[in-house]
Amino acid sequence: MNNTSQPAAPSGLTPHPPPMRVLITADQLQKRVVELAAQIDTDFANETPVLIGLLKGSFIFLADLCRAMTIPHLVDFMAIAAYGGGTSPSGGVRLLKDLSVNITGRSAIVIEDIIDSGLTMAYIRRLLLARQPRRLAIATLLDKKSRRETDLPIEYVGFEIGGGFVVGYGLDLAERYRHLPHIAELDLTAAEEMSASE
Ligand code: IMP
Ligand code: MG
Repeated sequence: MNNTSQPAAPSGLTPHPPPMRVLITADQLQKRVVELAAQIDTDFANETPVLIGLLKGSFIFLADLCRAMTIPHLVDFMAIAAYGGGTSPSGGVRLLKDLSVNITGRSAIVIEDIIDSGLTMAYIRRLLLARQPRRLAIATLLDKKSRRETDLPIEYVGFEIGGGFVVGYGLDLAERYRHLPHIAELDLTAAEEMSASE
């Protein structure tokens, strides 16, 4: 396979891959995920927490995290969408798919790909706390901490990153690039230069 051969993009999506640079390598991701799993193993020893993956972005992180864990646990999923489908949920979020497991009286850990303003996670946290879990923790692979708009306790953070838009390891740009084994940051300056020269 050569890197320059790209399938044609469906109409409405970017016609060619936007310029990107690797921000976190696959090796760095794997090492950090193993560390987080060990921390969770220790913190939830003697419990059987439910890992709640938020679809779709967390699916690869969750898959690696749960396989690195050694304590018994359950896996379940929730899906939410920002109103309007944009990248910013300032207009609110709605529930697309609820859990199939009842978390009342159980320990639960929400597994997220990235926390930006924190508004999505604040909504999910309120929703889940209302079900009276025994304990609720939040784990996010990436944290754009400087962009937070609301106070949010986050127990497990993989990497704190800047404000740029990132893809890969589950994270997408218009549903693409989730399969990349690393986290890449879009190079917006280069993207602007490219579109200016078209
Ligand atoms: P928040 O509510 O502002 O914290 O937004 C969180 C959601 O926005 C994440 O679950 C992602 O779906 C999306 N998001 C925020 N930043 C990025 C990014 O850099 N790449 C891909 N998705 C992102
Ligand atoms: Mg997400």
